[in-house]
Amino acid sequence: MFETLKPQPADKILALMQMYRDDPREQKIDLGVGVYKDATGLTPVMRAIKAAEHKLWEEQTTKAYTGLAGDPAYADAMISLILGTAVARDKIAAVATPGGTGAVRQAFELIRMANPSARVFVSDPTWPNHVSILKFLGIETVAYRYFDRETRGVDFDGMIEDLKSAKAGDVVLLHGCCHNPTGANLNQTEWQAVVDLVNERGLIPMIDIAYQGFGDGLEEDAAGVRLVAASVPECLIAASCSKNFGIYRERTGLLMAISQDGAAQAQNQQTLAFLNRQNYSFPPDHGARLVTMILNDDALRADWMQELEDVRLGMLGLRQQLADELQRLSGSDRFGFIAQHRGMFSLLGTTAELVEKMRVDAGIYMVGDSRLNIAGLNAQTVPILAKAIIDAGV
Ligand code: LMR
Repeated sequence: MFETLKPQPADKILALMQMYRDDPREQKIDLGVGVYKDATGLTPVMRAIKAAEHKLWEEQTTKAYTGLAGDPAYADAMISLILGTAVARDKIAAVATPGGTGAVRQAFELIRMANPSARVFVSDPTWPNHVSILKFLGIETVAYRYFDRETRGVDFDGMIEDLKSAKAGDVVLLHGCCHNPTGANLNQTEWQAVVDLVNERGLIPMIDIAYQGFGDGLEEDAAGVRLVAASVPECLIAASCSKNFGIYRERTGLLMAISQDGAAQAQNQQTLAFLNRQNYSFPPDHGARLVTMILNDDALRADWMQELEDVRLGMLGLRQQLADELQRLSGSDRFGFIAQHRGMFSLLGTTAELVEKMRVDAGIYMVGDSRLNIAGLNAQTVPILAKAIIDAGV
């Protein structure tokens, strides 16, 4: 039977990661996959994670299964981190998932189960794996305008105009903060306009939040999600702990299904647990347990928040340094958007040819759509990147 299999398309982010590893050049800069790196190029284990792991090692007495939904204490802690008090707990069904991707996958499966004819509207561009999973599941995808290639901000008029073609029951996929790949985000007035539109047309928002704490701060980054969750009859939220807790390989995510109708909560909870059972039975526990320990312990939580804030401010500093350097080299303000964007990524908005030229000529690895991971830089490599951008003629 295996002879019938055909090569599957390579994921362009992961393919780039491999190319970088294979490049023998000394001088090379990895601005590809969305993994945080400190100034020395290391992806550190956060202090609070280390401390929680130590405590867990001492205290954990069993590795027997948790529940299909994961440990309820994890869901409670994450719901409060993401939603604060925006939505009553009894309206939220939630399950632990293997990473944010697991949450996204389960959300799409839930959508397909609930409404097989629902289309999912995705921003142009969006995280490529959104589109890949939707296609794999046979769910119709419609792109809506999002990124203004002139200003490198959000083309909000275009977005709203395109979303007006959605029909009742269609799903609108939004990025909670730190839009991947563009770095261009909705402001609170724009979030409100999206809420008004989805309510007017009976659309279901689905929010992917994978970078809470990397943009304007933990609370600030959740403001859009909270507004939506409190103001619409139904929504889905897929969250990741990979980045803000730095536990990428532990695969720690959460999927929430919110309904203002409390009776739907039990049905949603049962369906989400069923989906976990069909796909992998019990979700991974290690990362979820560490996150729960940190969020529920005042000292660990304070230390985690401090380290996360240092990471966020470090990335903001690099953004400013890069924007300043590009202004100096180009003698213009046309790269000012890099300082305005938030999160790990900025989309330069240039061609795949010039991205390739920077890779060949200067060992700069950014995703072909010209997404660069700010956290892949440090104070010494910013001038090298700025020069490569200008030399390539961006
Ligand atoms: C990214 O966009 O680089 C990250 O979300 C990692 C991934 O899985 O693609």
